Amino acid sequence: MTNDAFISVRNVKKMFGSFQAIENISIDIAHGEFFSLLGASGCGKTTLLRMLAGFENPTSGEIYIDGQPMSDVPPHERPVNIVFQNYAIFPHLNVRENIAYGLRKQKLPRAKRNEMVDEMLDLIALPGYGDRKATELSGGQRQRIALARALILRPKVLLLDEPLGALDKQLREQMQLELRALQRTIGITFVFVTHDQEEALTMSDRIAVMQGGKLLQLDTPTGLYETPHNREVASFIGTMNFFDGVVTAESGSDLTIDTKGLGEIVAPKRQTTYGVGDVVQVAIRPEKLQMADAHDPEAAHSVSGFLQNAAYLGERSHFYVTIDGVERPVAVSSQNINGSGTGFDQPRKVWLNWRKDVAVVL
Ligand SMILES: Nc1ncnc2c1ncn2[C@@H]1O[C@H](COP(=O)(O)OP(=O)(O)OP(=O)(O)O)[C@@H](O)[C@H]1O
Ligand SMILES: [Mg+2]
Repeated sequence: MTNDAFISVRNVKKMFGSFQAIENISIDIAHGEFFSLLGASGCGKTTLLRMLAGFENPTSGEIYIDGQPMSDVPPHERPVNIVFQNYAIFPHLNVRENIAYGLRKQKLPRAKRNEMVDEMLDLIALPGYGDRKATELSGGQRQRIALARALILRPKVLLLDEPLGALDKQLREQMQLELRALQRTIGITFVFVTHDQEEALTMSDRIAVMQGGKLLQLDTPTGLYETPHNREVASFIGTMNFFDGVVTAESGSDLTIDTKGLGEIVAPKRQTTYGVGDVVQVAIRPEKLQMADAHDPEAAHSVSGFLQNAAYLGERSHFYVTIDGVERPVAVSSQNINGSGTGFDQPRKVWLNWRKDVAVVL
């Protein structure tokens, strides 16, 4: 454990009766970090967030925030605030009253309170909205009010449980960028829960990928996408092609692997401990495979196949190429850079080329 962790989750387990919702998770989060918990429904994201907030207690293990153990600290005394998925704002109050709601116990002069609310309205880009009724707002505006209401209390940590889940795609993408910019401006630590991998990649400094109560990998967005540590992460984040193989040689930082379909290839060893004789899988992203009409003798690796299906998606095209010895068609993705598609729209023989360092051994 590093000492400069602002939030430290140490060996935390959570049982609900005989069901283990969280299995021995340890996570350190730095001050000012935008940290996401990512995983499929039921993997334990909300449970972990609720333990940070103090609404649930770990069955074993300890949570530290700002150097303090949290086991005996009730929710309202923790330096955290939480924003939920369904904009929990009060319909009978106007925007100003909603944002100031948490301040009411602080006995501030009205002028000071109004000044703080106006600052928040500027921050969430809704200046002058103070007198609006809460019911006269769009979904995105309501969610920004809910954020302002949490932020006005100046928490050291903001916990967000799928706060954009109820918004439509376009508004959601806009709010992702706004929320990220807002977090950078105010510089507090965000712990953000989502099951949407693209959202997590867009927004986060680091992401903890969870499955069935376990932590699969904790990494930067680039780390998760480019060098997944296991098959679960590789297939959960983006699309991945997998090829079965056996390690036949080891030299320095490379492994030579005899694969089904791709033949003998070389791939970086990275953090793996694989050696000669180990059964492995080689994983290659669709966009790392370059499709060509002819064999390129310069390419580090290439294989021939048969282009079966093409899908034109505007900005890019997806292709499915069958290769002898590989069960599922290999996915290939290309940018449509010349304004007329990629030219590969008919079934035919093609070559796939790739650089050795794009292959990940799992
Ligand atoms: N109070 C509870 N009692 C019993 N089981 C619970 C309780 N709360 C959560 N669980 C179980 O713990 C597991 C994790 O639930 P959790 O709400 O943390 O999932 P999640 O990752 O947030 O999922 P989602 O994306 O659907 O919100 C689930 O199997 C859930 O049924
Ligand atoms: Mg949840």
